[in-house]
Amino acid sequence: MSRRSIILIAACLVGAVLLGATAWKAGVFQPAGAAQGATRGAALVGGPFKLVDQDGRAVDQSILDGKWSVVFFGFTYCPDVCPTTMQTLAAAKQQLGPKGDKLQVVFVSVDPERDTPAQLKTYLSNEIYPKGTIGLTGTPEQVAAAAKAYRVYYRKNGEGEGYLVDHSTAAYLMDPKGKFARVLPFGIGPDETARQIADAMR
Ligand code: NI
Repeated sequence: MSRRSIILIAACLVGAVLLGATAWKAGVFQPAGAAQGATRGAALVGGPFKLVDQDGRAVDQSILDGKWSVVFFGFTYCPDVCPTTMQTLAAAKQQLGPKGDKLQVVFVSVDPERDTPAQLKTYLSNEIYPKGTIGLTGTPEQVAAAAKAYRVYYRKNGEGEGYLVDHSTAAYLMDPKGKFARVLPFGIGPDETARQIADAMR
């Protein structure tokens, strides 16, 4: 083998390695299972929690057993996202007909300071919100633990009585075993929400 062809082969090898590395970086070769990564990550949503419902009863994750649930984190003084989400869920539940009867909405407060069980009860009695919604609150530590389990972000914004709480806007559809089924993004509207829930239930 001539010296020239050795150099040529070596150059080709280096080129192939560089090309491979570039393709790898660009994600051309997806490692096996990468496509399932999102699903695996989502399986980390949910889990045990200890909270108090709007009647002052201590409850845990077993309230999710036997029903489909939309779990949503918010606060009763929320001026926009929470009322919109609750009305969307009410409309979607109605659209689902008999399937909607198998669906419960679980509203978890990220504002335990103001959202007492009584405050939640008053808030959820609003007839434009989903009937039978379970309102949950607790100590700041209990709420923080629940939010962490559901990968929910929230942070107090502002001072004084009129403060707001910034919070994640997505709702989570959980199956009757209390396991994560899918994310219901904010702003998709009642039709799409109903469609996604029906799709998951099938
Ligand atoms: Ni809100």
